[in-house]
Amino acid sequence: MEIIVKDTVEEMSQVAARVVAKTLNAKPDAVLGLATGSTPLGLYQELVRMHQAEGLDFSQVTTFHLDAYVGLKQKHPQSYHYFMDENLFRHINIPHQNVYIPSGTTDNYEAFCKWYEQRIVECGGIDLQVLGIGTDGHIAFNEPSSSLGSRTRIKTLAKQTIDDNARFFESPDEVPVYAITMGVGTILEAERIILLAHGKHKSDAVAKAIEGPVTSMITASALQLHPDVLFIIDREAASSLDMLEYYEWIQDKMPDAP
Ligand code: PGA
Repeated sequence: MEIIVKDTVEEMSQVAARVVAKTLNAKPDAVLGLATGSTPLGLYQELVRMHQAEGLDFSQVTTFHLDAYVGLKQKHPQSYHYFMDENLFRHINIPHQNVYIPSGTTDNYEAFCKWYEQRIVECGGIDLQVLGIGTDGHIAFNEPSSSLGSRTRIKTLAKQTIDDNARFFESPDEVPVYAITMGVGTILEAERIILLAHGKHKSDAVAKAIEGPVTSMITASALQLHPDVLFIIDREAASSLDMLEYYEWIQDKMPDAP
């Protein structure tokens, strides 16, 4: 695992955008796994800027999205379809048909989840997966006790996640209780993974993910099993890491590594 600590959210987002851009420059038809939530907003803004100012090209890119609320129509302002359109897709040149977001309104979730997994494989697998982390240590909506081998499925959200996400809704009662989410096992099959986190409220989850035992109680800890994971976090999110000095030492020494 590589851990990059930045002083500001802007810097964190810029580092993440450079990783995405590098992936697309090396492989213009890359498959990206994308996240929603407040964490990747700066990344998406930077990608839009890179598209508009530097011609970063998304015309051959395919995206798969981590999760979606069950019961929200695509046009609902809190649906992840709406979020991705508003914050990224309508500003870049990705073909509409290359975007895959789990359906929160299908009448057959089991079949949909199977199809979604199959589509990822048919598209060649995810080259770069972008993740956030929940205050309960979840990646996507893989709440505590999710199997570390889980696949795309329906998940019941934890009370903590509902409370955390209530800020986007009029009241906590409006937050959907169920979500459709890629599994931990699905995520671990990505070629490369970056996890972004900022803010003091994420520091405990980040420390457990990086330095704690691998456990289904903190599903982000499963990333320790992946050979190519990059954590890009701000100083506040890094503030509970025991080995922070060492991670910064590694970054400092990296340019001279043989
Ligand atoms: P946030 O959510 O980016 O809105 O903090 C992250 C997550 O729950 O994974």
